[in-house]
Amino acid sequence: MHKPRSVRDADVAGKRVLVRVDFNVPLDEGKVADDTRIRAALPTIKLLLEKGASNVICCSHLGRPKGVADPKFSLKPVAARLAELLGRDVAFDDPSAQLCVLENTRYVAGETKNDPEYAAQLATKADVYVNDAFGSAHRAHSSTEAVAHLLPAYAGLLLEAELNELSKLLGEVERPFVVIVGGLKVEDKIGVLRKLGERADELLIGGKMAEQVHASNPVGRDVELPDDTVIGDSFAADANTQIVDYFDVPEGWERYDIGPRTRERFCSIIAKAKTIFWNGPMGVFEFPVFAEGTRAVAEAVAKADAYSVVGGGDSVRALEELGYKNRISWVSTGGGASLELLEGKELPGVLAIPES
Ligand code: 3PG
Repeated sequence: MHKPRSVRDADVAGKRVLVRVDFNVPLDEGKVADDTRIRAALPTIKLLLEKGASNVICCSHLGRPKGVADPKFSLKPVAARLAELLGRDVAFDDPSAQLCVLENTRYVAGETKNDPEYAAQLATKADVYVNDAFGSAHRAHSSTEAVAHLLPAYAGLLLEAELNELSKLLGEVERPFVVIVGGLKVEDKIGVLRKLGERADELLIGGKMAEQVHASNPVGRDVELPDDTVIGDSFAADANTQIVDYFDVPEGWERYDIGPRTRERFCSIIAKAKTIFWNGPMGVFEFPVFAEGTRAVAEAVAKADAYSVVGGGDSVRALEELGYKNRISWVSTGGGASLELLEGKELPGVLAIPES
């Protein structure tokens, strides 16, 4: 795997540093609703300031505004939250300040096309480039890829740590190695299911994707699938519910969680694990009536005496809501990026940084 050189070895004293961070965070009424990704970028920002960078210029995308300067995707609230977290001024869209956050890179249409002209515009603002945006490293965009060829480029501390932790799952692991995958779309996860499925001792599949795997197993190995399910008569927090065998779903009802028998089977497998990777909830955990499967899996992963890695927004949110996040060995800030890495792909944002 490509090992990019580290910001620790960069000479940044008196220099202007462009830092690509992943500040693609949820906003709620103009305020940052979850600042996990902002907190995760703090060590690199602090390190650059400590090393005497004259200007630390943070850039990121937020949402998918598709080249239009739509104010609902502005990074202004993110700059405000960063200032609160650091307890100091953070300028907005002003690269002459000692520390600033630029406006959304995706307001520029060229960004997602990896446009060299937009990359050149970004590069003129700085002397050194640091990529700390692990969550976006699977995108070949101007601010994650093209710009890295125009300035001396380094990996930030978060990017480095993510690569380090996730690559542990690609090498020799302590066994049993249990992989748990849930959520919606089998298509997005088939690569990682195949790759980790080849190496895992147990592959547990829940959530909506279990229906697709039950119908035709695209993984080509034995998998543990739900044999009972919690069904609801509507997609709502106050739905009526029943527990039934997996294939006994009456007309007008849908599967929204794994059932108690499956829960117990999955949890006893997880309890014996020495290495765990989990991505995707077991059901519609946002509604308490369908949260029990995800809660039980989160608890089993947290309690297992194992090296545990959890990636993907929904599973991380579930862990956080259930209070188990600090009991996981590594919680990844990247959903798509962590899956692509575990599929064995090299990420364009990582490849663009020279090795040391
Ligand atoms: C993410 O949230 O997964 C990253 O920030 C990438 O966002 P994107 O899928 O819009 O490129």
